[in-house]
Amino acid sequence: MSTDRRKFLRNITLGGGLLATGIPSFAGSLATTDEEVERSSQFESGKQSFNMCGYAAPKIPTVRIGIVGLGQRGSGAVERLSYIDGVEIVALCDKYADRVAKAQKTLEKAKRAKAKEYSGEDGWKALCESNDIDLVYNVTPWHLHTPINLLAMKNGRHAATEVNAGLTIDQCWELVETSEKTKKHCMMLENCCYDFFELLTLNMARQGLFGELVQGEGAYIHDLSKDYLFNKNAYADMWRLKQNYQLHGNLYPTHGLGPIAQCMNINRGDKMDHLVSMSTNDFTLNNLAKEMAAKDSFFNEFVDKPYRGNMNTTMIRTSKGKNIMLQHDVSTLRPYSRLHLLSGTKGVAQKYPGPEKIAFGHSWIKKEELDDLYKKYTPPIVKHIGEIAKEVGGHGGMDFIMDWRLIDCLRNGLALDQDVYDAAAWSSIIPLSDRSVDKKSRTVDIPDFTRGAWKTNAPVNLTLDGGATTTVRKVEKK
Ligand SMILES: NC(=O)c1ccc[n+]([C@@H]2O[C@H](COP(=O)([O-])OP(=O)(O)OC[C@H]3O[C@@H](n4cnc5c(N)ncnc54)[C@H](O)[C@@H]3O)[C@@H](O)[C@H]2O)c1
Repeated sequence: MSTDRRKFLRNITLGGGLLATGIPSFAGSLATTDEEVERSSQFESGKQSFNMCGYAAPKIPTVRIGIVGLGQRGSGAVERLSYIDGVEIVALCDKYADRVAKAQKTLEKAKRAKAKEYSGEDGWKALCESNDIDLVYNVTPWHLHTPINLLAMKNGRHAATEVNAGLTIDQCWELVETSEKTKKHCMMLENCCYDFFELLTLNMARQGLFGELVQGEGAYIHDLSKDYLFNKNAYADMWRLKQNYQLHGNLYPTHGLGPIAQCMNINRGDKMDHLVSMSTNDFTLNNLAKEMAAKDSFFNEFVDKPYRGNMNTTMIRTSKGKNIMLQHDVSTLRPYSRLHLLSGTKGVAQKYPGPEKIAFGHSWIKKEELDDLYKKYTPPIVKHIGEIAKEVGGHGGMDFIMDWRLIDCLRNGLALDQDVYDAAAWSSIIPLSDRSVDKKSRTVDIPDFTRGAWKTNAPVNLTLDGGATTTVRKVEKK
C-alpha cells in the first residue's frame, strides 16, 4: 500500500478525515492537484472492502430523521417528509436559529412532534453524534456536504445528501471508503432521476425500445444570476455566488447526468471512462458584480473575482463507447433547460425544450402515441405514488417520489436506487471538468469508484418488490 493511501486511510480511521482541519475557505481553490490524481489511481488499484451497490441495510421500521440546512430547499424537505408515515423528524439544524424555529412551525402545522433543535456553525456535529437518529438529511451549502455525510456515517447514521455529494476527488473517495467501512448508505438526493419522463425513458430503455443507447445529453441551464446569485435574500451568506469563482467547470452536473447514467447502467454494466470539458469566458457575472457594487457596497467583495465561464460543455466517453454531453450555465439570459436526451439505435427521447418528445424514425411521434407509451411503460413506482406526489409537490412531484422511495427502502431493508458510487462518480464531474477546463480541455480520466464491481453490479431495480408498504398522510388542498 502506498504511503498516501495509508495516510488517507489512517485519517479516516481516526475519525478525522481530510476535512478535519476545517471547511475549505472560499479564498482557496478547489482545483484537483496532480497528487490528488495520483492518490485516486492508488485507490482505484486497491480492492473494494465491501460492495455497497445492491446493499440492503437492516430494516428500520420508523426512520428517525435529522435535517440539516433549513434554507430554500431544506424547508421544503421538512414539509415533504412530514407527509410520510413511518418517519419521525426528530432533529432540525441550521446555522441560523430563526430558520430552525420556522421549520418547527411546519412540523406543528403537520401535527408532528417538536424536534430537537441545533444551531450555530457547528450544530450539525452534535446532531450527527446524537444517537437517536437513523438518517441525516443534508440540505446545506456544497462545502458542507462531505463533512456532514462523513460524520453521519461514522456515527452509524445513513446519509442522504443534496446534490452534489463531494466537490473534490479526495472527498468522493472518502465518501466511498467510509460508506464501505461503516456499511451506511450515502445517497445523493438526485431528484431528477424521479421525474416522470425520466422514469418513463428509464423503463423504456430497460425494455430495449431505444435499442442500444449511443448518446445521452443532459443540462442544467437556469439563469440564476440576478434573482438568486446576486440576491442577498437567496443563498445564505452568498455561498453559491462564491462557488462560481472557486471552480471553473460544470458545477452542477448531476441533474442532467443522473437520469442518463441510470438509463446507460453506469456503475452497473458500464462506467464513465474519461472526459473533455470546455468553458466560455465570463461575459456577465463580473459585469453584474460591478453594476451591483455601484449601487450597494455590500457587493464590492464580488468585483473582479475569477468567475467561471458562463457556459460549460463537457463530453464524457464510457468504457463501452457511448457518449454523454453535459452543459451547465446559470448566468446567461436564456430559457430554463434540464435537457434529457437519449439517442439509441432504435429510437430517441428528448425533454427540454418542451413538449416531451419521442421518435422511432425521422419524425417525433404524435401526442396520442406518447400517451400510449406512458400507459404501457410507466414504471411501478410512478403508478404507486405518482399522483400523491403531484399533490404534495416539489418540482412537480419528483422530489416526493424520491423521498418516499428512500424511506420505503430504509423501512423495508431494500437496496437504494442511488448508492455511494453513483454519488461519487456523478459528483466527480465537478472537479474533473474544472481540471480539463484549466488544462485547455485536455482529456481527464474518470476514476472507477466501484473498483471493478461495475462489471457485475445489477442495474437499478425498477420493481417495488419487497416494499411499497409506506403510506402517506392525507394532503390538504394547498
Ligand atoms: N435537487 C434540487 O432540485 C435542489 C434545488 C435547490 C437546491 N438544492 C441543493 O440544496 C442545497 C441547499 O440549497 P438552498 O438553495 O436551500 O440554499 P440556502 O442557502 O437557501 O440553504 C442552505 C441552508 O444551510 C444553512 N447553513 C449554512 N451553514 C450551515 C451550518 N454550518 N450548519 C447548518 N446549516 C448551515 C443556511 O443557513 C441555509 O439555511 C444545495 O446543496 C443545493 O445545491 C437542490
